[in-house]
Amino acid sequence: MNKSVLVTGINGLLGQNIVREFAEDHDIYGLDLTPSIYGSRNNIQVRQIDLNDNLALEEYVNLVKPQSVIHTAAYTNVDRAEDEPDIAFAVNGHVPASIAAICMKVDIPLVHISTDYVFSGDSGPYKETDVCDARGKYSESKLAGEEAVLNSGAQVAVIRPNVMYGHGEQLKSSFVAWLLGELRAERSVRIVDDQYNNPTYALRLASVIRVVLEKKAWGVWHFGSKEVVSRYTFALKIADTFGLSSALINAISTVDLNQRAPRPLRSGLICEKLKNELDFNIMSIDEELALLKEEMNVS
Ligand SMILES: NC(=O)c1ccc[n+]([C@@H]2O[C@H](COP(=O)([O-])OP(=O)(O)OC[C@H]3O[C@@H](n4cnc5c(N)ncnc54)[C@H](OP(=O)(O)O)[C@@H]3O)[C@@H](O)[C@H]2O)c1
Repeated sequence: MNKSVLVTGINGLLGQNIVREFAEDHDIYGLDLTPSIYGSRNNIQVRQIDLNDNLALEEYVNLVKPQSVIHTAAYTNVDRAEDEPDIAFAVNGHVPASIAAICMKVDIPLVHISTDYVFSGDSGPYKETDVCDARGKYSESKLAGEEAVLNSGAQVAVIRPNVMYGHGEQLKSSFVAWLLGELRAERSVRIVDDQYNNPTYALRLASVIRVVLEKKAWGVWHFGSKEVVSRYTFALKIADTFGLSSALINAISTVDLNQRAPRPLRSGLICEKLKNELDFNIMSIDEELALLKEEMNVS
């Protein structure tokens, strides 16, 4: 018999990659604001629910009785959060607390997806045990969410990705998708060379989630690629992998973008814990971009 899992934000980038990873041997129950993108696949059922509706959420969990919950849904517009912090805190702070309380009540584990933005970005890359210091409303709201789930008493794994990318349908624009579109149209782009990360490939993050659930590895985990690079270097690697012109890529500084919310500059997530304790192979950016290219079926 299949195992079962409830995935919030199932239509999003990570949600779709979790479906790819889990659909083979799981009954998947999904929640999202938008209608299902999965058609009539037998083992995937999606319900449109605003997760702020705690009652509807609890009723759904009681109805489908999943064996675990993976919470990916979030308010993800970093700059807009500065203007509507209450909405960001409701979705990123209170919703995770409600989900953890429900998981605690029905005694099932929760995997909660957080972010490197819980750190200041002054002195990364960061270990799981480093002190959090969120800057900006999105970051503060995500930190509130992870603190709430970790203090809930439920069986909880918090996984922090950074600069997530991957393949999916009908997605909001992500950095990689946007860059590929611009380079294919032969438009020049300006990319910051002073923000450092080790980007997270969503399909492999879905594998990390599977391992964490199988090994009941509760606690905090970091996941990204092997090396920390500037966004500019990441863009050059993307161009190289997909055979596009790197001459179109121009380096700029974060201050030139004049963004509303602060960005962590020296970020990145040290993944030694995942490698040593869960025996998870951490790949290079080039290896993961090659996998993405294969997944996208680009020759
Ligand atoms: N993408 C990154 O670079 C990145 C980096 C670090 C951490 N993360 C974290 O990773 C997780 C997944 O990110 P993602 O890129 O997969 O996000 P995404 O593509 O925006 O997917 C999130 C999904 O959740 C839905 N959602 C938002 N608010 C909801 C609500 N109140 N009720 C029900 N559904 C709701 C969204 O619907 P709408 O599209 O209609 O809003 C969307 O379908 C998030 O927790 C994010 O904070 C992402």
